[in-house]
Amino acid sequence: MLGWRDLYEQCNSCGKCSLSKNRKNIVFGDGNLKAAIMFIGEAPGADEDEQGKPFVGKAGQLLTKGLTALNLIRDRDYYICNICKCRPENNRTPYDEETERCLPYLRNQVALVKPKIIVCLGATAMKNIINKDWKITRDRGKWIERKGYSIIATFHPAALFRDESKKQLFWQDLKNIRQKYDELINKSE
Ligand code: URA
Repeated sequence: MLGWRDLYEQCNSCGKCSLSKNRKNIVFGDGNLKAAIMFIGEAPGADEDEQGKPFVGKAGQLLTKGLTALNLIRDRDYYICNICKCRPENNRTPYDEETERCLPYLRNQVALVKPKIIVCLGATAMKNIINKDWKITRDRGKWIERKGYSIIATFHPAALFRDESKKQLFWQDLKNIRQKYDELINKSE
């Protein structure tokens, strides 16, 4: 396992898949390195590629707004990153070969942060982290316990722009996550 600096350097010079060829920046991760909650998305979009930070575009702003309303603040309460650290062209879903090559960076990040809660944002994160046979519409909102982590999946915030009816379930999931966070934090104090 690498420390933060070495891991970042290795990722920043990565050429293990073709996504590295078109990136402006890697999008490594952001937030509190010792947070109790870790959010994991799919891959950077154009704004993230430009700025080198995850979830800063339209979908990210919607997520940040929801979390802020629950008093969950990025630099203080959570760490956020993606399965893939480089942007796929036209924001397509990453191929299995790309996620497989990038996953060791994520595993190292999880081992360094040691969160109590892992939130998968969307199907790509859910399938790679929880179970490839899970379906986001059927299985979102369910907690599983694995290796000491409480893990849950919810919709990717970008999906809410395509289908307004998902907003209510997404909000329900965020409140559920906040509740779990309160339970786990109080228990460990
Ligand atoms: N979508 C993602 O999955 N990740 C980002 O960082 C931005 C949009």
